[in-house]
This record gives sequence, C-alpha cells and structure tokens, in this order.
Amino acid sequence: MNFVDIIRKKRDGLALTREEIEYFAFSAADGSVPDYQLSALLMAICFNGLNGRETLELTDAMARSGDVADLSAISGIKGDKHSTGGVGDKTTLVTAPIVAECGVKIAKMSGRGLGHTGGTVDKLESVPGFRSSLSPEEFTAVVNGCGLCVAGQSGRLCPADKKLYSLRDVTATVDNISLIASSIMSKKLAGGADCIVLDVKCGSGAFMKDRESAKQLAEKMVEIGRGAGKKIAALITNMDSPLGNCIGNSLEVAEAAETLRGNGPEDLTELSVLLAAKLLELAGKGDFDYCKALAMSKIKDGSALKKLAAMISMQGGDPEYIMAPSLLPTANLKLDITASESGYISHMNAAGIGSACVELGAGRHRKEDEIDHGAGIVLNKKTGDAVKKGEVIASLYSSKNEFLDIAALQFEKSVTFSEKKPDEIPILLEIIE
Ligand code: URA
Repeated sequence: MNFVDIIRKKRDGLALTREEIEYFAFSAADGSVPDYQLSALLMAICFNGLNGRETLELTDAMARSGDVADLSAISGIKGDKHSTGGVGDKTTLVTAPIVAECGVKIAKMSGRGLGHTGGTVDKLESVPGFRSSLSPEEFTAVVNGCGLCVAGQSGRLCPADKKLYSLRDVTATVDNISLIASSIMSKKLAGGADCIVLDVKCGSGAFMKDRESAKQLAEKMVEIGRGAGKKIAALITNMDSPLGNCIGNSLEVAEAAETLRGNGPEDLTELSVLLAAKLLELAGKGDFDYCKALAMSKIKDGSALKKLAAMISMQGGDPEYIMAPSLLPTANLKLDITASESGYISHMNAAGIGSACVELGAGRHRKEDEIDHGAGIVLNKKTGDAVKKGEVIASLYSSKNEFLDIAALQFEKSVTFSEKKPDEIPILLEIIE
C-alpha cells in the first residue's frame, strides 16, 4: 500500500477503506511511515473529516495497535471513567472510591496534565510514596485487593494514539471531533472495562468551547463504545470556570479528600456523585436516583474516604495524607490576589486560570519538565460571587517568586467583573445515553 495514495484520497474528500485505516494506525504505531506523511494525513482528515464507519475503524485499529488490558483475573463488573480534561477536575479521586465502595471494580488508567488541564496521575503522585507505574500483575492485584486502582497508562497501550496525539499537538490537528473521539475511545476500549462513564467538558476550560460541539463529541464516543459492546453514557458538564476551589496537584488531592469527608465544594460534590451514579446505573446497581442516593451515602458514612486511603496504601503511598490532608505539601510562597472592582465576578476563564497554575510550577511547559506538587491556586471567590474592591479573591502558591509574578498577571487577565450578577450555568448540562 502506498501512503501517498492514502493522503491524496483523503485530500480529495474520499472515504478510506478499512485496510487503509489500519495501515495508517499500525504504521503510526511501528514507526514505518515518517512523521511528515502521518501529519499530512491528519491535516487532510481535519479538512475533510472521517465518516462514522471510518471513525469506528480508526478507533478499533488504534485500540489494537498495542496491548489490550486483560482484566479476566478481576471478578465482577469493571467500570471506568474518563474526563475530556478540565481545570480543577479531581472528580476521579472522589467518584472512583465511591463506585468501588458500591461493589463495582474500578480498573482505571489515567494521564498526566496536558496544556492548561491537570492529570490524575500527577495529582496522586503528590502523596509521598505513591506509585502510578505498575506492572499488569500489580494492577490486577490492587484492584482485587481493594476494589480500585488508578495507574498511569502503560507504554504499550495504544501506541498509535501516542504517536498521533504527539503529532496532533504540534500540527494544529487536535480539535477534530473524529480524531478526539477515536483517541479517547481507543484507550478506553484497550482499557478493557465493561461500563464507561464519560465526562465531556464544555466551556472556556474545555477542548469543546460550545455545547453543540460537546454534544457531537459525546454522541460520537457513546456510539463508538456501544458499537464495541460497552455499557456507556456521557455527561456533558460545565467547564466554563474551574471545578471546586483548588487547582494544583496536592491542593486538589486535599480538596478531594475533604469532599469524601462531606465538606467539599457544591459543584465538585454534585458532579462526582452524578458521575458515580451514572456508572453504578450502567453497572446494574439500580436506577439513577437510587444510585445518586447510594453514592451520597458512601460519602456520608466515610467509607469512600477509607476506600481511597486503601488504594493509596496498596500503591505504596502513605494513607495518612488522605486521612489528614493538611499534611500534603503546599509551596512556601503565597500571593493574594484582590478584586480590582466591587460588584460580581462575571467570568473566570478556566483555561486562563489553568495556565496561571502551570506558570506557578503545577504543570509542564515541556514534556520533560518536573512539576511542583505544592504549587497551585485556592479560589476564595468564583463566577457569580459578590466581591468588594480590595477583597482577596484567590491565593497563589509557588516555590519561586518570579513564578508568582507571571502567574498573577495571567490570573488577573482571566477574571472579569460586572455590576450585575451573571446567570448561573448548572454543572450538568445534558446526559447522552
Ligand atoms: N484527550 C485525548 O486523549 N485525546 C484527544 O484527542 C483529546 C483529549
């Protein structure tokens, strides 16, 4: 097969055959086609799209391009959750132990931060001793031991996506719905769970800025999952401002632990419970309302918090940091940001706040950068809150003074004020089943 013919065909707006799509995915995985040809095809796909069949076949080929997790040694129903990425999104740390405590095993592979968005693996590594890099045998033993495991993605899972994602990142070809859907769903299918709940974020901090494109992405991913025999649903949720009050790795672990203790911010508690309830419903534990109450009961009785501590412990971390989150490291320099006007916060641009957090040292500019687990932002006020000029709206934490100055400018640019209270956007916008 000649790769130039495949590029030309897509450039001219024609649909590719299954064989051509498999050739694309497998040669991305084994390195047999150069980056410039893969990138040219990605750009042709961005211009001319993939139809439903091509998207399914690309997802399937990418999922088969490397190892597929074998969860057969784990008994019972296995659940997985995926967020399309946001700012302050620590829902996995709340939702996963709730679901596990209700008897549905969570065998989850998570990623690191990407751009202005955070990653669960980086957050969990704030806990001293925690190991995210596990062999398949260790992964199975942790799930069998405590009902859940959150590990880093194995290098051999979906190598085609790994290659194509890195090229998309630097060739302006990330934001195509078929490419995003096949990238996410190939990893979910290779992850091997029976039931999947997707959190498709929408708004200023999300890949999908508007509701219509979030809906299209959600529908596409649900269709792919269903076609592969999975029980799957997607929640379209508001990511126009950061989720919860804390952004940054150890700050977010502490906030997740507080949420599991019943003292979390309303938006984070609500979304985590909704995601847990939908996954429990998919796993056959009852209807959505019953599952919401069941999920909430695991916060109220403290059992989900103990479940998270048990997982941390089985993955080498010190569970004391979950039971007493004030022990988690916080960077030693602090800068308060005050309101420049009286009135209301009319908007907090989530991507801008996420970028300020990266500047503080909580995220990476380059793949190889070390992150500062104690760096981050605590919001005292959020979109819609009344403020007085000079009142502290947020505190920035970093280990370097120069980082604080850059982040403060970025933060201030991301917040706007108004005299009138802005309309409230609910956390849950729609459910796609
Ligand atoms: N997350 C992914 O894993 N892939 C994408 O393409 C976008 C977000």
